[in-house]
Amino acid sequence: MRAKATLITGAAGEVGQALIQALAKERAKDRNTDGDNGRHILTMDLNPLPAHLATSVTHIQASILDTATLDRLISEYEIEEIYHLAALLSTRAEFSPDAAHRVNVEGTMGLLHLAAQQSEWRGEPVRFLFPSSIAVFGLPDQHTKQQYARVREWEWNYPSTMYGCNKLYCEMLGIYFSRHYRQLAADRGPSLDFRAVRFPGLISADTLPSGGTSDYGPEMLHAAAQGKPYACFVREDVRIPFMAMPDAVKALVDIAAVPLEVLSRPVYNITSFSLSAGDFRDRVRSFFPDCQITFKPDSKRQRIVDSWPSDLDDSTARRDWNWSPDYDVERAFAEYLVPMIRRRYEGIEVPIGKESPDQQLG
Ligand code: SER
Repeated sequence: MRAKATLITGAAGEVGQALIQALAKERAKDRNTDGDNGRHILTMDLNPLPAHLATSVTHIQASILDTATLDRLISEYEIEEIYHLAALLSTRAEFSPDAAHRVNVEGTMGLLHLAAQQSEWRGEPVRFLFPSSIAVFGLPDQHTKQQYARVREWEWNYPSTMYGCNKLYCEMLGIYFSRHYRQLAADRGPSLDFRAVRFPGLISADTLPSGGTSDYGPEMLHAAAQGKPYACFVREDVRIPFMAMPDAVKALVDIAAVPLEVLSRPVYNITSFSLSAGDFRDRVRSFFPDCQITFKPDSKRQRIVDSWPSDLDDSTARRDWNWSPDYDVERAFAEYLVPMIRRRYEGIEVPIGKESPDQQLG
């Protein structure tokens, strides 16, 4: 019999690393109460995992486009759930749009096929969790961005980047596979259970993003904590929504856990707080008064954030599956980002009793 498994693609990335910690902790708890139920966490990435994560999972260092590896995986494991995190982010995708299309679209298509096959074999839909993005929105100009401050899921779905186009199309592919694929031929149930959340810019205390356009937030903070100067690549006044990494993981785990019937849509906006780049600098400065942050906008990256909404309306997620971030802006900086980043760069211990993201994720 094949062992049951959860597959995480893009596992060595920012969200992947945080998700592994959360899922591994959950599995360890399950094992303590139910004994070893044989469920594995399989991770896939082009890069190796950091040593502290590698012990709790089975890591496959390979591309999601490597079909031979995917075939081997499904011959060895019964995959019940897929967190498909692998993607080239928005700035990187502008530099290599063909590679982005291959990884972001063809890679997703391959995994949707794999999930549909597995669902058919099991007679039960595989859960497919997909992190989408604010990049699926594209507001045409500053005036419109100000006018439509909190954007709903179906508004302004006119992405201006390759990454945004890829994410929006893959949301649609996921919906197609879950609702329509093969159903004309036979009256089967859904061929897979596709659920997506649209993340705002994510900020982690443990890792730095690479190749994204919301990266200026985390980069500013990590640079300040290391006493390094930082030139922010967007204007001070541009505003987008953000979220602390423990909340991003919580959103994925929470939406995966609810019964399908409570979800009124396959794709949800989620957010936590909205800041201009100048507000972000001020927050950072209040904890690191000597920080040297300047603004040196890059026109291409500026155009990308100018097209993203200044805030998201996530009321449907709040209503349907009780989505609510644990970290508002105050808590995110004071109780997660700053203490954890200090611990990382300055060796300052977090006082006992202060919340750590590990506790949050547990
Ligand atoms: N953080 C992503 C990026 O900047 C957007 O979802 O590309």
